[in-house]
Amino acid sequence: MNGKKILIGVCGSIAAYKTAYIIRLLKKQHADVRVIMTPSASGFITALTLSTLSKNPVLTRFTVGDQGEWNNHVELGLWADVFVIAPASANTLAKMANGICDNLLLAVYLSARCPVYVAPAMDLDMHKHASTQANMRILQESGVKIIDAEHGELASGLTGIGRIAEPESIVSIIDDLLSSGSPLQGKKALVTAGPTYEKIDPIRFIGNHSSGKMGVAIARQLMAYGAEVKLILGPVSNLFNLEGINVSNVTSADEMYELAKEQFAGADITVLAAAVADYKPRISADSKIKKNKDNLTFELIKTPDIAVSLGKIKSDDQIIVGFALETDNEVENARKKLFSKNFSMIVLNSLNDPGAGFGHDTNKISILDKDNNTREYELKSKTDVAKDIVDAIVEKYF
Ligand code: PMT
Repeated sequence: MNGKKILIGVCGSIAAYKTAYIIRLLKKQHADVRVIMTPSASGFITALTLSTLSKNPVLTRFTVGDQGEWNNHVELGLWADVFVIAPASANTLAKMANGICDNLLLAVYLSARCPVYVAPAMDLDMHKHASTQANMRILQESGVKIIDAEHGELASGLTGIGRIAEPESIVSIIDDLLSSGSPLQGKKALVTAGPTYEKIDPIRFIGNHSSGKMGVAIARQLMAYGAEVKLILGPVSNLFNLEGINVSNVTSADEMYELAKEQFAGADITVLAAAVADYKPRISADSKIKKNKDNLTFELIKTPDIAVSLGKIKSDDQIIVGFALETDNEVENARKKLFSKNFSMIVLNSLNDPGAGFGHDTNKISILDKDNNTREYELKSKTDVAKDIVDAIVEKYF
């Protein structure tokens, strides 16, 4: 961790005393540590303790000193290699999830471009409350990594999940992140995500349930590993944090195809996570189709297969990772697509696995390659699945 810049955020929680140990462990590894406290954190631990351990002044307010000099939150957010909020209280998690910015820690969070980790600490009922769980899901969707609270005896005397992770575990997670570095620095990546909508008339379309979450998580992970990422995103309703990613929004398969062909040329890695409609109406109406017949028949024609087209023009040093969304004969069908679409590897997800596929925040995948290897993974958050996929790419090709 020599010289790595680690920003620690401290919230009002009895677990704040453990932050002192976290800082001590980081300093032992020669990290450059700076600390921000929320106003209520100082009721649990003093700024003097944390500044002595971190060897830096502790920041608590937007201004400092009698002259009202400004603590530049933007500068702090850009300074850090990683921002770790430990302990993270239910209150701060709720504010972060909702973009509330009424203290310095929250302003820095909104300005930070580095990976952000939160280590929640609270009583068990607060932790399992639907609002807290929903806030943590929102944060995960915006790319914040949760260092799970642990099971044990809590300050209230109750026993359950809510204890902050041990300082050693938190430091080891930071160490893993910082030592993994940027294996894709200088590489260019292209990702497709979300559904496509094929127009029937100005009111109706043929579409599917893709939310874009899987593809967006992959784009973010590629970026976290240093790649320059372009994302072609179909029509989705989620408001994703896509800071740092070059995003093109499209609606139909034809639009996605045209852009993908254009952007593929410079891409070292292409990941096709979009659920592209396979068929579109041969003719779409310019005004609303009226309900004046008992039956309505459409002729559907094939949309361009983006994967097949890119597979044909792919050079030897380009990697294409495809997806297969299956309902039966899953492995057999995925293996067929791996070869027929000339993918380098394919990610299989099956709608038969609870929590996998469309819409969920979780997925369960297998990764198949052309050397007949199949690696199966547990059900995980899409953020963690994206890390498994990008790690598999890095391991095999970089
Ligand atoms: O968006 P989420 O809600 O998070 O859900 C994620 C997901 C289920 C959409 C994702 O994990 C996934 O499986 N995406 C691929 C869905 C799909 O269309 O699979 P497929 O087996 O029909 O297609 C095989 C591959 O060819 C895919 O890489 C697909 O992007 C690509 N394809 C398909 C048709 C087409 N016309 N052009 C393509 O490029």
